[in-house]
Amino acid sequence: MNPNKIAAIILAATICVAFYGCGRDDFSEVKLVPDATDVKVPTTVTEFTAAIQTTTEQTSVIPETSASSESIIITESDAVMTDENQNCSDNQEITEQTGAPAAEEIHTENIQNQQPQYETEPEQSAPSVVQNGEIEPTYINGILIVNKTYPLPESYNPGDLTTETMDAFKKMQADAWSDKQLNLWIQSGFRSYSLQESLYTRYVNRDGREAADTYSARPGHSEHQSGLAFDINIIDDSFDGTPEAVWVAENCYKYGFVIRYPKGKEDKTGYKYEPWHLRYLGVDFATELYNSGLCLEEYLGITSEYTS
Ligand code: DAL
Ligand code: ZN
Repeated sequence: MNPNKIAAIILAATICVAFYGCGRDDFSEVKLVPDATDVKVPTTVTEFTAAIQTTTEQTSVIPETSASSESIIITESDAVMTDENQNCSDNQEITEQTGAPAAEEIHTENIQNQQPQYETEPEQSAPSVVQNGEIEPTYINGILIVNKTYPLPESYNPGDLTTETMDAFKKMQADAWSDKQLNLWIQSGFRSYSLQESLYTRYVNRDGREAADTYSARPGHSEHQSGLAFDINIIDDSFDGTPEAVWVAENCYKYGFVIRYPKGKEDKTGYKYEPWHLRYLGVDFATELYNSGLCLEEYLGITSEYTS
C-alpha cells in the first residue's frame, strides 16, 4: 500500500477516537439542569410548611448588634423562665473566656442585667400631681386615696357606687339581718363633686369653715365622690353604740369595708369619728387594716391635711 495512503488512514482514525472521547468526558457528567429526582417538591401542607421553615431558618441571621439591651423586650414568659435565667452564670463564664460572646450569650446576659418590667409599680407617696390643668387621682398599692391631702379631679364621676361596693353591701346587709335581725341601709351613697360643693358650702355658712372641715370634706376631697364609700343608717352621733353600729364595726371587714374615720384617729384622718361612714377596700386589705388597728393614713404612712 502507498505509504501516503497508510498515513492518511492512521490520521483519520486518530481524529475519530479523540473526538469521541472528548464528548463523553467534558459534557455528559456536568448537569446544567438537575435531574427531577434531586428536587423534592412539597406535596402536602406539612411538607410545604417544613420547606418554608427551613428556608427561613437558613436565611435569618441575627447580627450581634441586635443584642443591645434596648432591643430586648422582657415578656411575661421570660419572667417565669427562672431556670433558664439561672443558667446565665455558665454563659457568662464562656463569655469571659472567649472575649467574643455569641449573640445568644449576650441575649441572656442582658436579660439578667435589665430591670424587670413586670415588677409592681413603686409606691406613690407624693401628693397628687396636676397634669394638663387637672389633678390626677392618687393610687397607693392599687388603693384609690381620697382625703384632705389627696383630692379627686372634678371630672371624676363614676355616677354611682361601684358594682363591687354595692354587691358587698348587699351581702353584708343580708347577713346582718339573718345573723341578728339588724336592718342596714344606705343613707348617703355616691356624691358628685358639685353635690359635695353645695353640702360643704351649706355647712361652712352654718358652722364656719374651721368647724365644717372637721366633719365635711371640701369638694374633690370626699370619698363619696369615688363611688367606694357610703353612710349607713343614721348620720349623727346617735348612731354610735347602737346594735347596728356595733355589728357593722365588728363584721364589716369580712365584706371588704372599714370604718374609715375611727374614734381616736382624728389627727390622722383629719375628721371626727364617723361610725356610719364605710369605705370599700376589698376583703383582703380591709381584713389586714382591721387586724392592724391602724387607720388608712397610719397604715400607708400618708397625711390628710389641706395646704390652705
Ligand atoms: N363626712 C365625710 C368626711 C365627707 O364629707 O366625705
Ligand atoms: Zn360619709
